[in-house]
Amino acid sequence: KKPGRFYNEPLLDFAVKADREKMLKALSDFKASMPVNVPLHINGKEISTSNIFERVNPSHADQVVGKINMGSVDHAEQAMQAAQTAFKTWKTVPAAKRADMVDKLADIMTRDKFKLIATQVLEVGKPWAEADGDIGEAIDFCRYYARHMRELASPLRQGALPGELSQYIYKSRGVTAVIAPWNFPLAILAGMVTAAAVTGNTVVMKPAEQSSVVAWGLMKMIVEAGFPAGVINFLPGYGEEVGEYIVNHKFTTTIAFTGSKAVGLHILNKASLVQPGQTHVKRCIIEMGGKNAVIIDNDADLDEAVDGVLYSSFGFSGQKCSAASRVIVLDEVYDRFTDRLVEAAKSIEIGSAENPKAYMGPVVDKEAYERILGTIAEGEKNHKLLFKANVPSNGYYAPATIFGNVPGDAKLAQQEIFGPVVAVIRAKNLDHALEIANSTEYALTGGLFSRSPANIARVKEEFEVGNLYVNRGITGAMVDRHPFGGFKMSGVGSKTGGIDYLKQYMEPICVTENT
Ligand code: NAD
Ligand code: ALA
Repeated sequence: KKPGRFYNEPLLDFAVKADREKMLKALSDFKASMPVNVPLHINGKEISTSNIFERVNPSHADQVVGKINMGSVDHAEQAMQAAQTAFKTWKTVPAAKRADMVDKLADIMTRDKFKLIATQVLEVGKPWAEADGDIGEAIDFCRYYARHMRELASPLRQGALPGELSQYIYKSRGVTAVIAPWNFPLAILAGMVTAAAVTGNTVVMKPAEQSSVVAWGLMKMIVEAGFPAGVINFLPGYGEEVGEYIVNHKFTTTIAFTGSKAVGLHILNKASLVQPGQTHVKRCIIEMGGKNAVIIDNDADLDEAVDGVLYSSFGFSGQKCSAASRVIVLDEVYDRFTDRLVEAAKSIEIGSAENPKAYMGPVVDKEAYERILGTIAEGEKNHKLLFKANVPSNGYYAPATIFGNVPGDAKLAQQEIFGPVVAVIRAKNLDHALEIANSTEYALTGGLFSRSPANIARVKEEFEVGNLYVNRGITGAMVDRHPFGGFKMSGVGSKTGGIDYLKQYMEPICVTENT
């Protein structure tokens, strides 16, 4: 069967009773299966270890969602050996066949959608609709990369000299170390893994500690989709231990990492050190954080702006690399905008991610909760607190918080917080707003609300971000429609869900024959 044109997976509407009931059933079924035992999966075999990490539900810290068998460096070595051996045959499998397996994986995800949503709701505290968006993005990555690989598999004729056939051909590279974050627990992991595998590489996947149950769900679907043993190996474990080991390993040819700036830069550093027996310069695809700003122009539609900022800042409790954590408001509308933003924030319902009414759930774990509360306390000492929400007490609930008149160079306006905390910054004019907007080391997402064509044109030209959104929120990039990724200290590598992404996992070679 020939796959059709790419389309984005439609999102569910939980206002529809049937879907709401399916979701409630999926949640109750999943809870009945907790704690889920998460083994390693190396070379087609499940492996248990004696080192168990108990992952709790951040909405209800007394519930254990999963018991994760954490891998050791010995397990990491087994995974690397398995991936290195499997590469010899996997690279010879025709691209169309690899792409078919990735499409099959997308079909399985579609079939199991409610269960996959339930897993994220309970493991990382993602509200229903946010979790549905993550599953949709994972499906999109699979379908998009499968289609793109089929296109890239045909050699490209270079030049037109009679008597010469010169062809540009993409080849796989070898073992890819995939190291993922927890915040888009299925989409980002599945995106990196399928990109690596569909391009003919083998994979050792290291999920984030906090989302290993979701990642185990992915591994089981990979097996069902028919990927041969050793092609994709599952290595839950601690980043400093097994993550570090696979980064350093001599077999690793490519590292696909998404996560914090600190870890990303550390990986780049380590990857540059050549190990005895290493045969490739390690290619690093490193997607890191953001300190994203939305500029509110004097003539902005404030209804739209408040709505867009609210969701961009507090959706999934601000735990998106794309989230808005700075709002730069031109002086003339500053008071009107902040008053309305605060009023709107008061309506945010914070509660268990299992409750479909909750706009905001908890943050991912105790460590994040304590770090965010510390940042808010420090902010209260140094800045004007405009709003801090009340939160439930039985889980890791961080309050939606808004500070006003924050100087653009303050720590609160420069460091990624990765929580529901917004710094509102006053700008004298658009020049000043752009100067502030570009004053961080990051360049991931950014936004502008304006009705002025001249100002929109100027911001499009001068705002240094990988993804710029005009008159809409700044999160929720869709595969194909909004290829996603940043530059400056937000990362190196080309955009996920875009036309250059797969090429990074391959080696282009040119074959020239006198005919
Ligand atoms: P993190 O950097 O703490 O962890 C990411 C992964 O790296 C985890 O799997 C972790 O175990 C592993 N790791 C930790 N230390 C390691 C080491 N020494 N060697 C190898 N691996 C190691 O990030 P996180 O808390 O999981 O995710 C949040 C961060 O990710 C935020 O900064 C966010 O902005 C960023 N992020 C970026 C994007 C993007 O597309 N640019 C998308 C999502 C998240
Ligand atoms: N791709 C995710 C978003 O755009 C990070 O929100």
